[in-house]
Amino acid sequence: MPYAVPKLTDYSPAALEKAANECISACQAEAAEVRSDSDLKSLRDRWMARKNGILTQINDLWLKGAPKEAKRDAGMRVNELKVRITELVDAAHVTSGGDAAAESVDISLPGIRRPIGAEHPIIKTMNEIVGVFQKLGYSVAEGPVVETDYYNFEALNFPPNHPARDTQDTLFIANQQSKPQRERLLLRTHTSPVQIHTMETMRPPIRIVIPGKVHRNDPPDASHSPMFHQIEGLAVDTNITFGDLKGTLDHAMKSLFGSNVKTHFRPSFFPFTEPSAELYVSCFICGGSGKRGADNAPCRPCKQTGWIEVLGCGMVDPNVFEFVKDNGYDPKKVSGFAFGMGVDRLALLKYGVDDIQLFFQGDVRFLEQWA
Ligand code: PHE
Repeated sequence: MPYAVPKLTDYSPAALEKAANECISACQAEAAEVRSDSDLKSLRDRWMARKNGILTQINDLWLKGAPKEAKRDAGMRVNELKVRITELVDAAHVTSGGDAAAESVDISLPGIRRPIGAEHPIIKTMNEIVGVFQKLGYSVAEGPVVETDYYNFEALNFPPNHPARDTQDTLFIANQQSKPQRERLLLRTHTSPVQIHTMETMRPPIRIVIPGKVHRNDPPDASHSPMFHQIEGLAVDTNITFGDLKGTLDHAMKSLFGSNVKTHFRPSFFPFTEPSAELYVSCFICGGSGKRGADNAPCRPCKQTGWIEVLGCGMVDPNVFEFVKDNGYDPKKVSGFAFGMGVDRLALLKYGVDDIQLFFQGDVRFLEQWA
C-alpha cells in the first residue's frame, strides 16, 4: 500500500512523533526504489508538488486541523518534517536496486583478489647476479638506453670508422647526420658506456655493477632478440691485477651455478680491455661431460663441449682511462678490470627455456611459472 497521509486525532507529542516517523520511513522506502529518471520525477512530484503533494497534504491535514493549544507544537514538527523530506527527495538518485540485505557486506564471502604479479625471470636472474656482487661490496649504477656515439664507442676506445664497431650491429636513431659524430644518438649496444659515466662522476676506487637493457640489430629467433639485458662490472683501484679478475669471477660463477663448476678463460678481443678474455664455466647441465642421461644423449646447451661461454672481460685499457683522467683515473696510477654478461642467455640456461622470445611475449601462462 502506498503511503497516504493519515488524519490526526491525537495531537500529543508522542502521536505527532509517531506520525512523523512513519512519514519519513515511507519516503525513505520510496526513494530507495527509484530506478529511472522518470521514477525520480514521480517521487519529487508525489512528495513536493505544491498542489496536493504529500507535504502540502500534511500542512492541510495536520496543521489546519490541529486544536488551538496544539498548533504551536504541531507547526514546529511539521516544519522539521518538511526539511527532512526535502533532504530525502533531494538526495534520492537512480539505483540499480537490491534490498538492504544484498547491499550490506557479507564478511564471510571471499574478498576480491588483486594479483600482485611476480618477478619476471629475467629480473629475477638479474637481481640474483647483482646480489652476488653486492655481497662483495659492489654498488649498483645505471645509465641511459639511448646513448651518444661518444659513450657507446669513442670513449671505449672504438675510434671512428674502426671495424670493431661492426661487431655491434648498432641501431641508430634517425636524423642525426647534422650533429658531430660523437653526439649522434643510438640505442646502446652494451652496458659498457656506463663505465664511462660512472668514472666521470665517481673518483677511484670504485666497484660497480650495471644492469640494463641493450639493443642490437639482430632479427628475433629462438636465441636472439633485438632487445636484451646485460650486467656490466667494473673495479678500479691501485694495483688491481688479472688475478683479481679471475678470483672475483670464479667466485661469482660458483655462487651462481654451484660450488662445483669450473671456470676457464680464453683470450679474446674488446677495444676497451687489454688483455681481454671470454669466461667459460663447465656445463652445469651435463656436468662438463658433454653427454646427458643414461643413453649418453648429446648435451645441447654446451654443444657437447662441456663448456658454456658466459661473459666477456679484461683489464681496463689505459686508453679508456685517458678519457676520464681528469677525475683521478691516471693510467699510470690506477688499474682495473671490467666484465659484461648476457642475462637473457643465462636465464635461458638456468631455467631450461628453449626460446628467448617467450621472455618478451608477456604470456601469463608462461610467466606465472615463476610466481
Ligand atoms: N661490452 C662487451 C659486449 O657487449 C662485454 C664486455 C664488457 C667485455 C666489459 C669486456 C669488458 O660484448
